Amino acid sequence: MTIRSDVPRCVRSADAWVQVTRGVAGSGLAPGRTYPCPVSTIPTLEQLHALGGAQQPTYRDPEALAQAVARLRKSPPLVFAGECDELKEKLAAVARGEAFLLQGGDCAETFEGVTAENVRNKLRVLLQMAVVLTYAASVPVVKLGRLAGQYAKPRSSDTETRNGLTLPAYRGDAVNGFDFTAADREPDPARLVEVYHASAATLNLVRAFVTGGYADLRQVHTWNTDFVRDSVTGQRYEAMAAEIDRALTFMRAIGADPDEFHRVDFHSSHEALLLEYEQAMTRIDSRTDSPYDVSAHFVWIGERTRQLDGAHVELLSRIRNPIGVKLGPNASPDDALALAARLNPDNEPGRLTFITRFGAGRIRDGLPTLVEKVTAAGIEVAWVCDPMHGNTFEASSGYKTRDFADVIEEVQGFFDVHRSLGTWPGGLHVELTGDDVTECVGGGELLDEAGLGDRYESVCDPRLNRVQSLELAFLVAEMLRKA
Ligand code: PEP
Ligand code: CO
Repeated sequence: MTIRSDVPRCVRSADAWVQVTRGVAGSGLAPGRTYPCPVSTIPTLEQLHALGGAQQPTYRDPEALAQAVARLRKSPPLVFAGECDELKEKLAAVARGEAFLLQGGDCAETFEGVTAENVRNKLRVLLQMAVVLTYAASVPVVKLGRLAGQYAKPRSSDTETRNGLTLPAYRGDAVNGFDFTAADREPDPARLVEVYHASAATLNLVRAFVTGGYADLRQVHTWNTDFVRDSVTGQRYEAMAAEIDRALTFMRAIGADPDEFHRVDFHSSHEALLLEYEQAMTRIDSRTDSPYDVSAHFVWIGERTRQLDGAHVELLSRIRNPIGVKLGPNASPDDALALAARLNPDNEPGRLTFITRFGAGRIRDGLPTLVEKVTAAGIEVAWVCDPMHGNTFEASSGYKTRDFADVIEEVQGFFDVHRSLGTWPGGLHVELTGDDVTECVGGGELLDEAGLGDRYESVCDPRLNRVQSLELAFLVAEMLRKA
């Protein structure tokens, strides 16, 4: 229980409503009555569920769920509110056209995937991409992992049927197991606590890597030159790699060795999907007396949970983190304006990022009106392109896949639309891994549908592999230089 020093009549209870302990003359507030807190408060789980949260699992054991939530409430924050504010400032620069965002990682992280090698490979590819993009964009690249918390998935159907057997759909390791057995598919609240620990371990490793020499610019550039030298795909980008090389050699020659060469800022993000987890991880920050979701620096609302009067919009409207909203081809400009009004009523710079995911075939038609109307309304927003989720299809072999050419085509459409409107194409949101998986077809290595089965490891959407991710970075670098 916190007693607010600036409003002595308020005592904040656990669910963040205020109890008036002393009447204040002329205020109309009576002693002993409960009123909504005058500052932003954390909605209770009951209030959220009353709004009908979409995409929530059905837990059979309410007692076990309550225990998991209680455990999470007691757990230390994974990130600090001040770090979220720093990221918000960086995203304000993205919105102003003074920085570029690179957000990437798995579609769905798994508990199995919490290994040093997996996290390191993902981080390495993101850092490699960031160097190329920074050079081409000539502005800072904000590095945001889709990791350390990306364990819950929205699904198009609640159930899955195989050979006549119907079981709950896999909703991510945060909810249930991937194996198609009744035991595995049963939603288990204890997994929420495991998400916390898996996220903590991942974030700890990431923090150590990015400050402990692994993110050294010359080291990262050496990996890029290896890629350019050793792969057929890479050889096409020799000219740009050589330019970066000359820039670094020049810096060395003049004796420049700033701190920024040896460490990078890196932040975490995931889709805020599970109300129990995100609400339990939302805390009042003692500096500002405001709620922050301390499960990640940045959280976003997915295409399937962005209902204006729904629980996800309600919860994220209360927290002070920088947040994102995915907007698909069915999002109207009015939807975007209403979301901005709900989620960022003060038009705070850096607070809101719109992540568009139209699909390669629809972005050139759909995006212009959306950007135009939002811009005309004076709304401060960072525009980011997710070229993955509008381009998924099922290969004849049954694998869910994406064509690298469609991904590039959507990014090109995104750049073209923003260029023609005079707005800033603020960044990229991609599903990728640092490993040599075979999940998306195409790219310089010409992976075809028959090759998908070689190393298909994603438990959800197909990711760009290491080479495809680097190729994407070089191609986007070329677009940025023309932008
Ligand atoms: C995702 O990002 O994995 C996802 C489910 O995206 P969307 O909400 O855009 O469909
Ligand atoms: Co996905």
